[in-house]
Amino acid sequence: MISFEGRVLLMSGAAGGIGLATARVFAHAGASLALGDLDERRLEEACATLDLPADRLLLATHDVTDPESSRKLVKQAQEKFGGVDVVVPNAGLYPTDPFADMSAASWSRTLAVNLDGVFHLCQAALPALRPDASMVLVASMAAHYGSPTHAHYAAAKGGVLSLARSLAKELAPVRVNAISPGLIDTPMVRPLMQARGPELLNATPLRRLGTPEEVANCIAFLASPLASYVTGATLHANGGLYIA
Ligand SMILES: NC(=O)c1ccc[n+]([C@@H]2O[C@H](COP(=O)([O-])OP(=O)(O)OC[C@H]3O[C@@H](n4cnc5c(N)ncnc54)[C@H](O)[C@@H]3O)[C@@H](O)[C@H]2O)c1
Repeated sequence: MISFEGRVLLMSGAAGGIGLATARVFAHAGASLALGDLDERRLEEACATLDLPADRLLLATHDVTDPESSRKLVKQAQEKFGGVDVVVPNAGLYPTDPFADMSAASWSRTLAVNLDGVFHLCQAALPALRPDASMVLVASMAAHYGSPTHAHYAAAKGGVLSLARSLAKELAPVRVNAISPGLIDTPMVRPLMQARGPELLNATPLRRLGTPEEVANCIAFLASPLASYVTGATLHANGGLYIA
């Protein structure tokens, strides 16, 4: 149903669970991909499974905490593809730190990756955006629901939600939306599921984790012409665990 033929996706954290699934959905819909991750070896291995011709794929080592790194990735995307149509700042870090023991370094690092990183990539992408561009910011249910032992992460994701709303107003006609995934089956949530899995699944009306593909489909919808009148919105993909 959705076609991204001739469109270019720019995404961070592309070697991870949701990132790779999103790359796959956009690739199947015809997009070219400019993908970055801190771990380039894992990114290359993961993206080998996409089976895309070289002229539709750009892979780069990318550290979202470094503004220059985002500028470089955007420049490479512009040189290779001529511009960017969809921006998905997806890189994330989910450390577990009881608040009483949380170090200032862990607080700062978590904010740097999950919030500053979104700022850097979205700002760097602006000069490369083409008509009908959109951004889908990856927030989290934690921003709405609270997340014990992840207060830094929840605070950063709350910032991402607010940033999306402000950018929707300031950058229009560029559409800017957010997605708030709940518990999605990626390496990121494994420690949480080991600690509280049965309790959390019991509280989820759909009684299961979400798949990275289910989040990727939501991102594709928000970025597509099907959502052409949707901006400043947050789409929840959480199996009903948090109902706004
Ligand atoms: N999995 C979930 O349940 C869940 C729930 C809500 C939100 N999210 C969000 O979805 C996004 C993707 O998460 P995921 O579950 O796929 O996690 P993941 O751990 O599988 O992927 C995260 C990716 O981000 C990359 N990354 C980390 N620091 C980076 C940096 N400084 N620069 C560039 N890349 C960096 C990692 O190398 C990794 O490939 C994150 O923003 C996460 O917060 C995930």
